[in-house]
This record gives sequence, structure tokens and C-alpha cells, in this order.
Amino acid sequence: MRKKKLQIKPFNAIIFGGDGDLAVRKIYPAICKRYLDKQLDVAFSVYAISRSGVEQKTFLEKVKKSILESIDFKYDEKKIKEFLDKVTVLHVPGKDEVGYDKLREKLLDQPDYQSVFYLSTPSSAFGEICDALKKYNLVNDLSKVVLEKPLGNSLATSREINESISKVFSEDQIYRIDHYLGKETVQNLMVLRFANHLFENAWNSNHVDSVQITVAESLGVEQRGGYYDKSGALLDMVQNHLLQLLCLIAMEPPVRIEANFVRDEKLKVLHALRPFDERSVKTDTVRGQYTRGEKEGQLINSYLEDIEKFSSNTETFVALKTYIDNWRWKGVPFFLRTGKRMPKRYSEIIINFKPVAYNVFSKEEEISGNKLIIRLQPEERIELVQMSKLPGPGGYRYKPIALKLDFGDSFDGRFPEAYERLFIDILRGNQTLFMRQDELEAAWIWVESITNNWKKVSQKNILYEAGTWGPGDAIMNSNEQWSKTSIYEVISAIK
Ligand code: BG6
Repeated sequence: MRKKKLQIKPFNAIIFGGDGDLAVRKIYPAICKRYLDKQLDVAFSVYAISRSGVEQKTFLEKVKKSILESIDFKYDEKKIKEFLDKVTVLHVPGKDEVGYDKLREKLLDQPDYQSVFYLSTPSSAFGEICDALKKYNLVNDLSKVVLEKPLGNSLATSREINESISKVFSEDQIYRIDHYLGKETVQNLMVLRFANHLFENAWNSNHVDSVQITVAESLGVEQRGGYYDKSGALLDMVQNHLLQLLCLIAMEPPVRIEANFVRDEKLKVLHALRPFDERSVKTDTVRGQYTRGEKEGQLINSYLEDIEKFSSNTETFVALKTYIDNWRWKGVPFFLRTGKRMPKRYSEIIINFKPVAYNVFSKEEEISGNKLIIRLQPEERIELVQMSKLPGPGGYRYKPIALKLDFGDSFDGRFPEAYERLFIDILRGNQTLFMRQDELEAAWIWVESITNNWKKVSQKNILYEAGTWGPGDAIMNSNEQWSKTSIYEVISAIK
């Protein structure tokens, strides 16, 4: 079913942290690709707010290079030039008046445009930037503010940041980005769940044995050691991306697919997450850090070498088992796992269904349950693993076979990247894929039950070699998925 698309109004995108890594790698290419796809057929300008004093020409070369690297389809060179002509770098060194005045001049030139203030800076600067926007009278009813994660590093700091932003912007002008929500397969989760009778009927503790959410990355911390060492895998990935995936899997059907209805349902899941205590944090969480390793004959640095420090207790791997204490999910374990420097990049969600009640083919063995595998990365596909008879005579021999739906094979055209979709949603004023403040706070409360108890019990990192599957590698390898028992094995084996 096609919905009527909301018209996009002319806009100015003002990117703070405008020559930073995220802006150059993700934001400009996303806007440009939407432009090439003719979705931005309105007047617009992009202002890159920089503190570094980078020259316009050098900056545009860098942006162009990044755009070209990210395009994997046929494009018109002229159109890229047209896009780059709309991008201007402005120097705003701190709270400097001259800088903000320059920005004001530009924005006042186009009073009917909506301003999208995109804050791609550390969140400690958000309050100061919003104060300045207010002081220089740059915000009106059409304005929006986009906030990149992490929003603080605790419940208290996240509340503080939010308070300073909400003095300037109302909640319906605030877009808290979690780019995982913009991924095609993640959105397909809602269609899979709420447009298919088959799955929805089995989507509860009567039928589901366990759920696994894995986001494995082959990269290390790259150039972001300074930031990463203060956050670690739990705050960098679990507090946002993995919890959002868990919410979409576990939430009740929303009244309609509209921002607040969807967010209300996700919030209920976050409220129902069982908090950790000193005992469960020891038995049901594992944290790890990568040491030197090797991949395809190449030496890979350890985390400490990557961040150029002699010691650090930051985790680059975390695995945990949690429960959602509500009617639908009573007693079903949710396993979350993420780590850097794993052998390959892959993310997937596995719904493990219970086995059939009784094996009519053999008294000796149990038939393993069906699995629904939702692969997010590197390829986007859905697999339903079900038992099939092996062809030929010789009685009933059976094995698990996957029915596969590969998005790339089934649908023509390219899938826009997460940032492209999210940027268009911001322009259209659709907040469905953005987090509300109360969701964020509920996520922090649960995450702090882990961080506080880690501190209390002085939980240490277990070292794992870069290029392996983390602390439990001896037990789980790439072919073997986590099962209900193996997390116990993983946890007990490494304690
Ligand atoms: C970011 C994290 O939010 O997500 C990074 O800060 C991580 O550490 C990245 O690498 C992963 O995103 P994706 O889309 O590559 O899985």
C-alpha cells in the first residue's frame, strides 16, 4: 500500500561538527544521494559549521571524495557539482558572535525555509549551541534540532542535556537519531510482525524459546579512541542500537504506525526490562576487551595500542541475558551481544521457537525448534529455518533447511541508507524513527543497573584476541549460534 507523501518544504541544513568524521562520512553523502534521487526537488542550502577553520575548497574536496566513495549506482557528475554548490562552510569558533552573526545573515535571507540544526558534536556542546541559537534568534516554529548519540553518559547527564535543549526546542522539534532505526531490515521488522498473521500468533512465551540479538563488528575503535574509551560497548551500542532492536521485536502492536503510538509501545518494553543486581550482573553479563590478534596474516593492534594507553577498563565486547517481565515475554531470555574486532561484520536477530511437543519420528531425539533469522548486515535477508525431510528412501531422515528471502534478489532498485531515510523523515516532520526523551531515560535506568553493579562487584574485562568471536570463542564459533545453554557455558567457562 502506498501512502501519500508529505511535501518537503525548502530548508537550510545547518550541520554543527560540520567537518567531523560523521558529517563527512554519512550526513553529506546522505543528503546528496537524496538529491541525486530527485527527492530534494526544493530550494535548499547546507551550512557546515566548523571550528577548525578549514577552507571552503579543501572542505568541498573532502566532501566530494566521501560522496563518490559512498555511491554505488550510476550518477550524473553535473548533479554532484550542483549539490556541492549548495554547501558552504562557516567558521563559528565557540560562542563567537561574528560566527553566529554570519549564520544569521544567511538564514534571515530565507525566512520561509525550515532550519534543520543538526548537532553532530559531542553532546556536552549541545546546551551551549542551543543557547547561542536562541540568543541570536535563529530558532522559530519551523526549526528542528537533530541530536546525534550518545546523549550524555548517564541518566543524570542525559537529563541535564535534555533540559538545556528543551529551553529552546519543544519535544516535537527534537529528533534523537538512532541510525539503526533507519535501516531497511529494521523497518521491515514492523511489517513482518504486524502484516503477517503467521508470525504474530506465535510471537510470545508460549512459542518462543529465546531471542538473540547480535551486532558483531570487524572494525576496532578507529580514530574514535578518545570518545570510545569513555563509553565502551555497553553505552556505544547496547544502550541505543541493540535496545531499539529489542523494543521492535518485543513491543505490542501500536494503535497506528505514528510516532507517539510506536514510542509508547517501545517505552512499555523498556519499563518491563528486568534490572540487573549484584548477583545477576555477575552471572548474566560478560564484558571483554580485545588484545593483539591476527587476521589474514596481518597483525591487528590491541585496544590499548589503538587508544594509545597503558591501561583501560573499557569493554569492547559485551554479552548479556535479560528478561522482559510482562505478560507476553514471561520467562523468555533475550541474549544481546556486541563486540569490536570480531572475525567479520554481521548483525542478526534470531527468534528461536520451541520444539514440537513430541517427536513422532523417533523416541530418542528431540526435534530442534524453528528459527526466524533476520539478518541486518552485511546482507539484508530473512530466513525461516524449518525441518525438511531428506529426499530418498530409507525412512524419515530430516534436517533444518532455511527458506530465504533475500531483499537484494527480491526487490529492484537500491535501498537508501539509514541516514538518507532519517534525513527525509526529519524534513517531513515524521518522528516515528526517533527516540523520545522518556524512552531514552528508561533505557538509561536499565543500563545504569548494569554499570552501577559492574562497579560494585568490580567486574573485570575478559581479554579476547582481535579477530576472534570474543571471550566465549572457545565455545561459540561463527557457525554455532548462541543457544539457551551456551550463554551459561560461556559465562561459566570464563568465570
Ligand atoms: C555507531 C557506533 O553508533 O554505530 C559505532 O558509535 C559503530 O561504534 C556503529 O561502529 C555501527 O553502525 P553500523 O551501521 O555500521 O552497524
